[in-house]
Amino acid sequence: MKISQILAGIVLGSAVLAASAQTVIKFSHVVAVDTPKGKAAVFFAQKASELTKGKIKVEVYANSALYKDKEEMEALQIGSVQMLAPSLAKFGPLGVKEFEAFDLPFIFDDKADLHKITQGAVGASLMAKLEPKGIKGLAFWDNGFKSFSANVPLKNVADFKGKKFRIQSSKVLEEEIRALGGIAQVMAFSEVYQALQTGVVDGTENPISNFYTQKMHEVQKHLSLTNHGYLGYAVIVNKKFWDALPADVRGQLEQAMKEATVYANKIAQEENDLALAGVRKSGKTTVYEPTKEERMALKKAMAPVHIKMADRVGKDTLQTIYKETGFDPNAL
Ligand code: LMR
Repeated sequence: MKISQILAGIVLGSAVLAASAQTVIKFSHVVAVDTPKGKAAVFFAQKASELTKGKIKVEVYANSALYKDKEEMEALQIGSVQMLAPSLAKFGPLGVKEFEAFDLPFIFDDKADLHKITQGAVGASLMAKLEPKGIKGLAFWDNGFKSFSANVPLKNVADFKGKKFRIQSSKVLEEEIRALGGIAQVMAFSEVYQALQTGVVDGTENPISNFYTQKMHEVQKHLSLTNHGYLGYAVIVNKKFWDALPADVRGQLEQAMKEATVYANKIAQEENDLALAGVRKSGKTTVYEPTKEERMALKKAMAPVHIKMADRVGKDTLQTIYKETGFDPNAL
């Protein structure tokens, strides 16, 4: 065989190899598969494979299978995983404190209010603040509004006094529990069920989809539908990894993310409604719907959190949000 034929063979061989090469994106998250985030991650994985014609394989790791809350952010920054969708509360500890605005109690009346922010200038500027941390923000995904649970009924502000509540690592959430006279305990999501079961904490706050899929209804006798705060996600990737992808592949992944975001936001409410039906059907937790007056009393008790946290979260960001949503902590 001539040397030129051998060389041609090598070139062809490497071209075939390059054509069949597959890039893996590890997508880690902490919730169950049957949740808005869990389902949207799987949807994205399928779309990504379809649109890139198999060049990208997204491996989804649910239920903290790879990393717990804080560890997953570090893993993304060093590139051990490429994609995450942490709750917005998880960006404060990263040093991007403006994200904690989303944790403020009662700041959004509904998802229409919320979308004005996530899909507007504030959302874009928050995502831009992640870039110096080596993170590229791709999308906001909805979950829903949080409700409080405990082993005693939570109807009035006095019912929270002296009770220990698990929270995500957020100064705003710490202040929220303090405003109710409770004790805040920061804990990784994967540890909450056991902490409730063993009485390490008395109660917690969750969107119902998380409450139900982590089986917290088995270890909490009362759930009060307070809907006092929002919990949703930012889908993020390791920026170096993202920037190194071929432009056409990046475009296909952006399209997959766009479709996954529409899907995520469409199913978020449905999943929470189904979860609530599941909790009711289990008969293990008494579900209480606070009256308008009881909810207003909670809202008033928590309004000072906005004032106390304004400097930390950023007054400009807050004013922009208040202008869009009409929320005024001073009017309560
Ligand atoms: C929590 O820690 O409660 C949430 O961030 C879990 C999640 O990702 O929905």
